[in-house]
Amino acid sequence: MLDIKITLTDHPQQKPEAGKPLGFGKIFTDHMFVMNYTEGKGWYDARIVPYDKISLYPSAMVFHYGQEMFEGLKAYKGEDGKAYLFRPDMNAKRANESNDRLCIPRIPEEDFVQAVKAVVNVDKDWIPSEPGTSLYVRPFVIATDEFLGVAPSKNYLFIIILSPSGAYYASGLNPVGIWIEDEFVRAVRGGIGFAKTGGNYAASLKAQVKAHDAGFSQVLWLDGVERKYIEEVGAMNIFFKIAGKIVTPALSGSILPGITRNSVLTLCRDWGYEVEERKVSVDELIEAQKNGTLEEVFGTGTAAVISPVGKLRYVDEVMTIGDGGIGEVSQKLYDTVTGIQTGKVADPYGNWHVCVED
Ligand code: PLP
Ligand code: COI
Repeated sequence: MLDIKITLTDHPQQKPEAGKPLGFGKIFTDHMFVMNYTEGKGWYDARIVPYDKISLYPSAMVFHYGQEMFEGLKAYKGEDGKAYLFRPDMNAKRANESNDRLCIPRIPEEDFVQAVKAVVNVDKDWIPSEPGTSLYVRPFVIATDEFLGVAPSKNYLFIIILSPSGAYYASGLNPVGIWIEDEFVRAVRGGIGFAKTGGNYAASLKAQVKAHDAGFSQVLWLDGVERKYIEEVGAMNIFFKIAGKIVTPALSGSILPGITRNSVLTLCRDWGYEVEERKVSVDELIEAQKNGTLEEVFGTGTAAVISPVGKLRYVDEVMTIGDGGIGEVSQKLYDTVTGIQTGKVADPYGNWHVCVED
C-alpha cells in the first residue's frame, strides 16, 4: 500500500465548457501522480501534485534510447457521482510485461491501481459526461539517469496524467478507412511489439503519414517477416467477422495484447459466437471479400473503443466492407462495452467496472 502525499493546486484551471468538442489528449487536469525509483531503494515518494512541467537534464536516458513504458485507460463518472475505471488491473499487469521487456523495474500491481484510483479521485470533477467522452488516464515510466551509455537506467519516474477526451477519431463511431501497409513494418517476433512503449509508435509514424495523405485514418500492419499476415492497427487490435465467425490475429509476440481485445473475445464467446484467434492472411481477407463472406471489420482499443472499419486498402485494391456502415456485431459490442464502462449496463463479470473509492 502506497503512502500518497497529496498537494492540491492553489490555482485550479478553468474546466472545458460542457458540450464543446474535447478532441483527444489535448487538455490536462489540475493534478498528476509522481513516484521515483532508485536502484537499491525501490519506488518511493508517491505523491499527487499540481500538473506542471518536469525538470530533467538533457542527458536523461529516456531522451536518447527511449527506455519508456506507457499505459492507457479511461475513467467515467457514475450516476452516484463517483469515478469508475475499466479493468485497471489489466493495465497494471500489462505495464509490468512492458517493464520486464524494457528492463524497467516492476511496479507492484496493487500500487499501480492505487495510484490511478487516487489521482482520478482527486480530479474526478474533470470527468466529462457527454456521450462518447471520458477522462483518459496516461500512466508512464521514463528513465532519468544522466548517462549516454546504452544500459538500463538506475533511476526512473512513474507519472500519471489525466486528459478529458472525446472520440479518438474525429468521425466518432462512423466507420474509418484503414490502409494495409505493404512497405514499412512495425515489429517482429522477439522485438518489442507486444510492449506498450514509445519506440513502437515512433516506428509507425512514417506509414501513418502516408496513410493520412491518401485519406485513410490508420495503418493496418502486416507481419514483419513474410508481410502476409495481419497484425494490428496503429492504436487498435483488429477483428473480422468472416462467414459468421469472429476472427482476430493470435497474440504472436509482435502485437499489443489489448485489454479491449480481451474483453471483446470474452463477450463474443459468452454470446455464443464461434471465435478464432489465429493467423489471418491478407489473401484470405481479399478472398473473403470476393466471395461475400467478409461481413464486418472493426478495431478495438481504449482510445478508439470499438471502431467499425468501412474501407480497407491493400496495394491497388480498396475494399468496401459490407455496405460501408456500422456492422451489427460492432454496434452491439460498442453499446455493451461503453455501457459497462459508464455503468449503464450491469457488469457481467463483477470486476470490469471498478470504483476508484473502493
Ligand atoms: N494496439 C496498439 C498498437 C495500441 O496502441 C492499442 C491501444 O492501446 C491497442 C492495440 C489496444 O489496446 P487496449 O485495448 O488495451 O487499449
Ligand atoms: C490507447 O488506446 O490507450 C492508446 O494508447 C492509443 C494511443 C493513443 C496510442
